[in-house]
Amino acid sequence: MSNQITKEAILNALSKVDEPDLHQDLVTLNMIHNLEIEGDKVSFTIMLTTPACPFRAKLEREAKEAVMTIDGVKAVIVKMDSDVPNDGRMRGLVKMPIRNAIAVGSGKGGVGKSTVSVNIAVALAQSGARVGLMDADIYGPNVPTMLGVEKLPPPQGKRLIPAQAYGFKMISMGLLVKPGQPLIWRGPMLNSAIRQFLGDVEWGELDYLIVDLPPGTGDASLSLAQALPLSGAVIVTLPQLVSLEDASRGLNMFKTLEVPILGIIENMSYLDLPDGTRMDIFGSGGGEQLAQATGTNFLGKIPIDQNVRIGGDSGKPIVASHPDSAAARSLREITETIAAKVSVAALSAKNELPINIIE
Ligand SMILES: Nc1ncnc2c1ncn2[C@@H]1O[C@H](COP(=O)(O)OP(=O)(O)OP(=O)(O)O)[C@@H](O)[C@H]1O
Ligand SMILES: [Mg+2]
Repeated sequence: MSNQITKEAILNALSKVDEPDLHQDLVTLNMIHNLEIEGDKVSFTIMLTTPACPFRAKLEREAKEAVMTIDGVKAVIVKMDSDVPNDGRMRGLVKMPIRNAIAVGSGKGGVGKSTVSVNIAVALAQSGARVGLMDADIYGPNVPTMLGVEKLPPPQGKRLIPAQAYGFKMISMGLLVKPGQPLIWRGPMLNSAIRQFLGDVEWGELDYLIVDLPPGTGDASLSLAQALPLSGAVIVTLPQLVSLEDASRGLNMFKTLEVPILGIIENMSYLDLPDGTRMDIFGSGGGEQLAQATGTNFLGKIPIDQNVRIGGDSGKPIVASHPDSAAARSLREITETIAAKVSVAALSAKNELPINIIE
């Protein structure tokens, strides 16, 4: 007859499984929940700090293997769940509980900020997170087209109800004015539009609010950073030199605003041709160089893919429409890296501004 299986033995086995980002084991991190033993069957839940955890499958497998080595254990059932930590920043203006807010910016136009924002939101929502996307490009809103959304649900009293697409909530000036109508606004109006998008929209509880910024280092970023304490910002650049110069301006702007930089994404990095050759249309390696030169994380490269553009024009983000493409895979990996970094920062440096997330 086998020994009685004890909780101590199971926790001891699980304390040998490390979370690679947080550099501690699952037991120390309090990630093991609902531990139950029924005869020779053991079940428990691993509570991750983000559903988009890059080590989800690895942790599940290692935890299972660790418990299987215990004498007498015949079956292990691992449930994966998550509880995204709040970054600890006060969001008084926003009456809704938004746990983390991530801005996507660049110094330059047309580098793929909106594309990246939309696909990060899709990837986070697909992982099971509660996600909102705010299109802060008040003058040139592109997010509605990229998601195929044409209108908002009717408001409830004075509160705007965000649109729903691909499992997340979205608000954009493009849904509040007639298509094609020019938006000629002045600074203070822009400021109040951004504040309204935060304060007057019924976001509900969100794990992540993604903010798609307009090009440049102008008023919108300033208004945003003042209205909404940001967990961090990601900078999108092309590999070429002129784009990098603009990207470093964007980087410096966030530094001035005391917004932590989560990292740099290089978009349109290369084009893979059907004959197997690779073309560096906009140069190569610039994003990594900029990251190195500025002591910033490099989050990854996204190749040129015509389905990114087609999907953007037709409301079908590549992560949803071509999930196995290299571009979608890269966007998912970038999303997981960002989610992990945000969780690590939230857990390790609560209430400390600015946070230095660079490892
Ligand atoms: N990796 C890619 N492969 C192919 N096309 C892409 C890629 N990334 C972006 N695009 C296309 O490039 C165009 C510009 O992208 P996007 O609108 O996302 O840039 P942006 O930085 O938000 O621009 P703006 O500064 O005007 O807001 C879009 O048509 C988009 O579909
Ligand atoms: Mg844009």
